[in-house]
Amino acid sequence: MRKTTLDLLARKGTQPISMLTAYDYNTAKNIDEAEVDMILVGDSLGNVMLGYENTLAVTVDDMIHHGKAVVRGAKNAMVVVDMPFMSYQASVEDAVRNAGRIIAETGCQAVKLEGGTEYADRIKAIVTAGIPVVAHIGLTPQSVNTLGGYKVQGRTEEKATKLLADAKAVCEAGAFAVTLECVPEPLAKQITEQIPALTIGIGAGRFTDGQVLVYQDMLGYSDGRTAKFVKKYADLHSVMLEAFKQYKSDVESRSFPNEEQKYN
Ligand code: KIV
Repeated sequence: MRKTTLDLLARKGTQPISMLTAYDYNTAKNIDEAEVDMILVGDSLGNVMLGYENTLAVTVDDMIHHGKAVVRGAKNAMVVVDMPFMSYQASVEDAVRNAGRIIAETGCQAVKLEGGTEYADRIKAIVTAGIPVVAHIGLTPQSVNTLGGYKVQGRTEEKATKLLADAKAVCEAGAFAVTLECVPEPLAKQITEQIPALTIGIGAGRFTDGQVLVYQDMLGYSDGRTAKFVKKYADLHSVMLEAFKQYKSDVESRSFPNEEQKYN
């Protein structure tokens, strides 16, 4: 049975919620089989799937293309699709139209957008249109050029107060969950205790209602540097490299294909 917002909200303060990103059918199918609660088709696909330097060039069409594949693979997890840069920033009308397109064309169950108090009107309008919203505050990668890089947010008292106000505002606007990215643990705990919505942390410590990771990071897909908050559950980079090297060598030595892999 597909997880609903009500199922997940009922777990606030009791059973933590697991979320992973996915961008394709097979990964979604595997994550779903592992009974992870939520799958995020993040605009991080710009970085990890398309090789861009940041998420700013990702389009609504990109999100729909990958979102459709993920929805086909996930039968039980709630699928959330990110609203990419400039799909909601310019106006409330853009926000509702693009959220509607994403929901209608992918079949996902919710959308996610970055920003706090200043985007509460977009969240309210999307929720009014019948679309569940996950908000995203703290480090918001679509604002990398104003944030001056990918840094922990809310470190001063003033910034922490603003983040708490943002969490309350998006919650009041109707967001059923709030992603907290790169926020000090005590602040994430305080936000979690003070809002009725679910908090889903990424680099926000131990006390949020749930956790999300980019699946390539947690699988060790590339040999590049990962953020401090990532726990590597596998070393797929080494596994893949070894397999690709072995394949090349087998082809060159004519040991692949062999008797078993041929048709008579
Ligand atoms: O795009 C993404 O993958 C995200 C997560 C980092 C939360 O927004």
